[in-house]
Amino acid sequence: MRMYDLIYTKKLGGALSPEQIAFWVKGAADGSIPDEQSASLLMAICWRGMSTEETLALTLAMRDSGKRLDLSSVPGLKVDKHSTGGVGDKTTLILGPIVAACGVPCPMFSGRGLGHTGGTVDKFAAIPGLKVELSEAEFVRSLAETRFANSAQTADIAPADKKLYALRDVTATVESIPLITASIMSKKLAGGADALVLDVKCGPTAFMKTLEDARALAQSMVDVGTAHGMQIRALITRMDAPLGWAIGNALEVMESVEILRGEHGDSELAQMSFRLAAEMLIMGGAAKTLTEAQAKVQACIQDGSALETLRRFVTLNGGDARALDDFTRLPQAGQVVEIRAEQAGTLAAIDGRALGILAMDLGAGRRDRNDILDLGVGIRVHATVGSKIEKNDLLFTVYAKRETLVASSPYLKTIEVINVPAPEVPWLLDAIGC
Ligand code: URA
Repeated sequence: MRMYDLIYTKKLGGALSPEQIAFWVKGAADGSIPDEQSASLLMAICWRGMSTEETLALTLAMRDSGKRLDLSSVPGLKVDKHSTGGVGDKTTLILGPIVAACGVPCPMFSGRGLGHTGGTVDKFAAIPGLKVELSEAEFVRSLAETRFANSAQTADIAPADKKLYALRDVTATVESIPLITASIMSKKLAGGADALVLDVKCGPTAFMKTLEDARALAQSMVDVGTAHGMQIRALITRMDAPLGWAIGNALEVMESVEILRGEHGDSELAQMSFRLAAEMLIMGGAAKTLTEAQAKVQACIQDGSALETLRRFVTLNGGDARALDDFTRLPQAGQVVEIRAEQAGTLAAIDGRALGILAMDLGAGRRDRNDILDLGVGIRVHATVGSKIEKNDLLFTVYAKRETLVASSPYLKTIEVINVPAPEVPWLLDAIGC
């Protein structure tokens, strides 16, 4: 088999066979196929797409490039969640402990942040001492003892994805529905969960900018999961303004804990986290209807068992659970800078991407894979879209290492009050699957 022929076939819009796809994935992972040939094929896939059969074959080949986790020693249906990523998205920190507290085991592998969106692993890393790279044995122990496990992806889960994702990252080939599907679903299928709830983000700050594309990605992932016997359901949610008041790792831990304490219950972040958790409870067999599931979610917030589950997870994995009750134990930033409204009006939009880039520049996220993070820096968003603003009202508090970083940021210019009220769009745009 020649890699040249695969590239040529896809360049002309033809279909690749499962054998050809397996040949490519194996060669990309073991280095026998040079990066320039993989990059060419990736670009051809971006332009020409892949059929459902090809996407399935790509997912399987990537899944089988590494190990599959065996979680069968932990009783019950294991339910995972995946979000395609957004600024301020800390739903895993909230819903993981909720789902576990309601009796459903919740195994989750998460990513580190790259670019303007943060990564769940970095948020957990802000809890002092917490081990965020668990061995397989530690992961299973955490799941068995607390019903919640979260770890950075281990190197032996879908290693072909790691290799291909790094290539996609530098060749502008990330935004492709079959490539995103295979990348996410190969890791999810290898991760050992029985069921999966997807949060597919849609909007200017997300991979999928239009509802049509978000639906196509959701359907593609649902098709692949279903074909492999996984229970799978996708919610499509709006992503434009940052999710919640916190952007930045320690700040996002604080906001998550506040929600688990029962605060900000009406916020979009809380509503979205509760709904995703309720979907997971239904899949895990802990509730029959959405109403029953939502009541269980509320009960474990009210009785404190969700927060207690997070404390147990943190303690078991070496973290200082006192930081969840005393936020001064979390990493702190040196400088606090307030950004106030320069004019009165209605806040029509908050540019999540601009704030995400500012947070990255402050050190909360990585521009480059090897960047070292500053876990205490970030942004507190005080205003919500649609609210009335008076001149000098506090819009954002920026927590930085050095004040000059904030003053010199070109992105602050984009986060002024705009006087034209935007139409209200609900956060839940659609649901697909199950
Ligand atoms: N997240 C992934 O893991 N893979 C993609 O391709 C996109 C987002």
